[in-house]
Order: sequence, then C-alpha cells, then structure tokens
Amino acid sequence: MIRSRLTLHRCRSAIRALINQKSLWPRRRKISAHRFHQGIFYRDYLKRLHDACRPSNYFEIGVDTGATLALARCRAVAVDPKFRLKDDALGEREETFLFQMASDDFFARYDLNAFFPKGIDFAFLDGEHHFEQLLRDLSNTEKHSHHKTIVTLHDCCPVNIEMANRETNYDRRIDRPTRRWWTGDVWKLLPILREFRGDLDVTILDCPPTGLVIIRNLDADSEVLTNAYEEIVSQYRDVTLRDFGIDRFREEFPTSDSRAPLTNMLAD
Ligand SMILES: C[S@@+](CC[C@H](N)C(=O)[O-])C[C@H]1O[C@@H](n2cnc3c(N)ncnc32)[C@H](O)[C@@H]1O
Repeated sequence: MIRSRLTLHRCRSAIRALINQKSLWPRRRKISAHRFHQGIFYRDYLKRLHDACRPSNYFEIGVDTGATLALARCRAVAVDPKFRLKDDALGEREETFLFQMASDDFFARYDLNAFFPKGIDFAFLDGEHHFEQLLRDLSNTEKHSHHKTIVTLHDCCPVNIEMANRETNYDRRIDRPTRRWWTGDVWKLLPILREFRGDLDVTILDCPPTGLVIIRNLDADSEVLTNAYEEIVSQYRDVTLRDFGIDRFREEFPTSDSRAPLTNMLAD
C-alpha cells in the first residue's frame, strides 16, 4: 500500500516536472493581457443617454443592423454604405432618413442643416474604423454642433493590441475570446484630441466591449481639425498600439466608471 502511494507520488511529480518544461509548449506570440471593461454595455449606456438627454434629433454614422439606431425616439439621420437593418431599427420614430453611402459622400452631397436646422443634439459615430475616417466624421459632425451637442465615439479603447490593427486579420488572431472584435486604430483619436483639441470635453467610459467616448463643448466654427488634418494623419498613420504601448495608453487615457450616476457626468 505504502509502496503504491510512493509510486503514484513519483509519477505525479514526474508529470508535473514535464509540464513545467516550457520548451515542450509551442511558443505563443505575446499579445498583451486582457483587461476587459467592467462597466455598462455600450448600447445600454447609449440608451441611458437617450433617456437622460431626450435629444430632439439623432445622427448616426455606421448603423449595420440598427441596434443603436433603434434607441433613438426622435428625428434621425443615419448613414451606412450597407444597411442590414433588423427588427425594430425604425422604432416608433416618425422620421428616419437613411443614406446608404459612405459618410464622406454623405457630407459632400447633403447638408445636415436641412434636417437639423438648430444643429445636432446627439450623435454616435461608429462607421469605418480607421482613425483618419473617424477624424473626418468627427470634424464634419462638429460643423453642425451647438453648445449642448453630445457626440459619442465607439471602439476607442481596445482591450488588446491585435484588435487595434488597421486590418481585421480575423483568421490570424491569436487571442480566441476576442477573435471577432475589431476596433481598428480609432484609439488614436484620444491622443489626437488631447494634442490638438484640448478645448473639448472628453469623457472615456469603461463600457464593454471596447469603451465609449463622450465629447462635449464642441465648436461649430472650429477649423482646427480641418486645418491640421494632413499633419495629424502623417504624424499618426504609422503609429501602432504596440509602438505606443497599451499600458501607456491605459495610463494616459483612464476610463471613468459608467455605472456612476449619469447626472454626475452631465453636470461636469
Ligand atoms: C460596427 S458596425 C455599426 C454597429 C452599430 N452602430 C451598433 O452599435 O450596433 C460599423 C458599420 O459601419 C459601416 N461603415 C463602414 N464604412 C463606413 C463609412 N465610410 N461610412 C459610414 N459607415 C461605414 C459598416 O457598413 C458597418 O455597418
């Protein structure tokens, strides 16, 4: 009996030693560790904003199935080159204007003032996930802002490096749980706005899956982003999140708690 326990013990030790030999395992390329956002799911947070702010109009770039468009209960303008609207994307709204085209084409061909003569109350920008496109979407949207406009941006807080590449690379992803998440490189909007638009009021929220940014204090007359566009693009185009450092990014752009009462955020 004692002998067989001893054999069992030796067997276990040998297996443990074998497992601990790192060279036996295939080498995994290091992608930085997760730190999933812990707050309110972004769509639920957007709903809270709709409920609290009761906007009289809503503008959305990047609509897809219409899950976020559905939250708006006011006159809405929505832009997407390929709508895949589902269920109740139109909700109870009387007026929804759909533009099936890229956002650049929309801004080149239409004037938002025709739909929102007093300016945009609430916008959600979630179209093409390249930073220069989001920069143009933001800058074009700002031209139709008023002093209380709220603009929200999606996907600016990736939880690892590989989802923040300019290409989706779904088939070459290493991290399985987030294999289908793609933020592109719109995270660059945060350092860009800090550097070029310190006048904006930017709140970064810990909304899963990849953060939600709220921008206020917009200025319809500001030419800064338009004038500095080429400079910004050449400065940031080749910077990757790996170069910038995801830990540095988290440190310099910490998220606020989305579960905090909304009134605190809106009152600031
Ligand atoms: C992540 S989905 C939007 C999801 C939606 N806002 C939601 O939260 O449920 C991104 C959408 O952006 C659209 N898109 C891609 N390029 C665009 C562009 N240049 N202008 C506007 N929309 C674009 C895609 O067709 C896609 O439907």
